[in-house]
Amino acid sequence: MKGIMDKRVSSIIKEGVNLLEEAGVVNARSEATLLLRFIKKWQMHHLMMNMQETISQEDTEEFINLIKLRKNGYPLQYITGTQEFMGLAFEVNPNVLIPRYDTEVLVEAILSRDLPPKTRVVDVGTGSGAIAISLAKLKPEWEICAIDISEKALEVADKNSRKHNVRITFFQGDLLESIKKTNIRPDLIVSNPPYIPALEIDSLMKEVQFEPYLALQGGEDGLAVYRRLIPQAFSLLGRQGCLALEIGYNQGEAVSDLCKSEGFQQIEVIKDYQSHDRVVIGVK
Ligand SMILES: C[S@@+](CC[C@H](N)C(=O)[O-])C[C@H]1O[C@@H](n2cnc3c(N)ncnc32)[C@H](O)[C@@H]1O
Repeated sequence: MKGIMDKRVSSIIKEGVNLLEEAGVVNARSEATLLLRFIKKWQMHHLMMNMQETISQEDTEEFINLIKLRKNGYPLQYITGTQEFMGLAFEVNPNVLIPRYDTEVLVEAILSRDLPPKTRVVDVGTGSGAIAISLAKLKPEWEICAIDISEKALEVADKNSRKHNVRITFFQGDLLESIKKTNIRPDLIVSNPPYIPALEIDSLMKEVQFEPYLALQGGEDGLAVYRRLIPQAFSLLGRQGCLALEIGYNQGEAVSDLCKSEGFQQIEVIKDYQSHDRVVIGVK
């Protein structure tokens, strides 16, 4: 028997949309729809066919609780536990940065280069494993290692590597320190390191405040990690070895200069789809 408080799907979605719009959420309708589908485990066509059905009080309460989390800026991806990157679904939780479309520019830049057939890659600061796993999927013959200082991030990356059935060797440690202790000599070092100046983090979108500080904060001017990583990468790479870095929209010149002064050559700055500097690549 249906409870007296049961509501129709259409009216509960409307309620969710109104609450999200009040909080200024841009895609209120699609987010409310997605959250209800998430609770009901419905595909889109199930939702469309069930608009006049009733929803139990329990599901309604769960839905409103999730809508309230979103109103407070809690990222949708941490609620649903997933984010797409390079066409693959990555599991995410608050221990990892939510992979960004901007980072696809870094992966595409690597794929467009003429690299050895069995390229040995090290991904520094792997987070959810987005970069390392997409490279492993697209270039199955490459040998890929991935590092993070955060054990909890590595748990997520490992889970994602198993989900996508790729073999990656994971290391926990500070930048390239753990690799230096092995006999691995990479042809390519890739990294999307934390690069936001510490004092700017508070002024970013509410959603970003829920992401790991360790994944965001790049010291006073945002360049602290590059200053340590670039010399370490230079000494570990062999001749013709390549370093590919994601950068902040206004860091093209500063990061290129750091690479140049270390000895990297053929330095290129690549722009993202908004025409902002996004990637710096250098060759040893
Ligand atoms: C901006 S996130 C990038 C995550 C992922 N590669 C991506 O592109 O979505 C930076 C990552 O670097 C890791 N990290 C921060 N400092 C580090 C360090 N000193 N050594 C290794 N990893 C570090 C963080 O834990 C975080 O996972």
